[in-house]
Amino acid sequence: MTANDFIPKPYSNQVANGKVTWESPSNIALVKYWGKKKNQIPENPSISFTLNNCKTITTLTYTAKDNHDDFEFEVFLDGKQKEDFKPKIATFFQRVESYLPFLKRFQFKIETSNTFPHSSGIASSASGMSALALCLMSIERELNPEISEEEFKAKASFLARLGSGSACRSIEGDLIVWGENETVEGSTDLFGVKYPYTVHDNFKEYQDTILLVDRGEKQVSSTVGHNLMHGHPFAAQRFEQAHENLAKLKPILEVGDLKQFIALIESEALTLHAMMMTSMPYFILMKPNTLEIIQKIWAFREKTGLHIGFTLDAGANVHVLYPKAEATHILEFIKDELVGYCQNEQYICDQIGFGAKLIDN
Ligand code: PMV
Repeated sequence: MTANDFIPKPYSNQVANGKVTWESPSNIALVKYWGKKKNQIPENPSISFTLNNCKTITTLTYTAKDNHDDFEFEVFLDGKQKEDFKPKIATFFQRVESYLPFLKRFQFKIETSNTFPHSSGIASSASGMSALALCLMSIERELNPEISEEEFKAKASFLARLGSGSACRSIEGDLIVWGENETVEGSTDLFGVKYPYTVHDNFKEYQDTILLVDRGEKQVSSTVGHNLMHGHPFAAQRFEQAHENLAKLKPILEVGDLKQFIALIESEALTLHAMMMTSMPYFILMKPNTLEIIQKIWAFREKTGLHIGFTLDAGANVHVLYPKAEATHILEFIKDELVGYCQNEQYICDQIGFGAKLIDN
C-alpha cells in the first residue's frame, strides 16, 4: 500500500452542506515515536494505549461555496474564535488536499473543545487532529457512500498522521501500532493499526493517572525535537532499540508480565528524554517535580511490591500507569504523596480506551 492509494476516485454524490461531530481521545505511547522522515513518516515504530477520558470534541459545519480557489475556514475553541489555530490547520489542509479534493469546495466552521484543561501541558494535537480528520472523512463518506468501515478508519488515521504524527494512533483502541516493523503483521508507516495479538487481562482497564506537573508552554516543540534526531549521535541505535522493544513487548503483553512491562515502559520514557538531553542543541523538558515523582514511585514500588510504573511524553507531566486490580491502594498513594508535586494539585484519572466516536451526523 502507498499514499497514492488514499487519493479517491471521482465522487459519485454531490453534497451542498452539513454538520458532523466526532469525539476523539488522546493516546500515550509505550514505545515512543521520536524522529521522523519527510511527510510525517516515523523513523521507528511505536505502540500506544488509547485513552478514554482525555478527548477533543469537534463539530465541523460545511457549506458549498462558488469559488474553489482557496481554503476557507474559521476555528473556535470553547466558542471563542482562535486565529492562532489557523496556520496549523492551513498547513494540514495543504498536506491532505490531494487526498481530499473537496477541501476548497466548502467553507468550514470548526468548533472544538477538550475535556482536559487547556494549557494543562497535555498535548491536544493527537485528539484534535484525529477528531478533525474523522469529521473530514464523514464528508468524504457523504460524497462516496461506498467506502468501507475499514477504509474509513485507515484513511482517517492516515490523514490524522499528516496533521500530527501521534494523532494517527487515536482513531481506534485499545492498543495501536504505528510504523512498519517485523513484530506486528500489517504494521505500516502510513497509519495506525490495532495491535493484533493476545493481550492479558492484567491490561484490561489499565489505569493512567496524569500528574500535571507543569502547565507552561513547552520551550521546545515536538516538531523541533523530532528534527534534532537528524544527525543525532545515538539516532541509529535508538531507532533499532524501538524495534527491539516492540518485539520484547509482545510476550509481556501476552502473559501479563507487569514487572517486565514496567521496566520496558520506564526505560522507553527515560530514553525519550535522554535523546532530548543529548541532542545538539540539547534541552530538558522534565522539571524538578517530575524527578521527585519518579523517585517516590520507585520507593513506593520497592516498599509495597505493587505494580506502579510511569511514562512521560514530550513534557514534564507524569503518566502513572497501573493495573485496575491495584487501583484503590495506588490511587490513595497518588493522592497522599504525589499530587502535592502537581501545579495547583491538578491531576486527571484516565484509563485505556477504545477510540473515537461519531456523536452526530
Ligand atoms: O505527534 P507528535 O509530533 O507531537 O510527537 C509525539 C511524540 C511523543 O509524544 C513524545 C511520543 C509518541 O510516540 O507519542
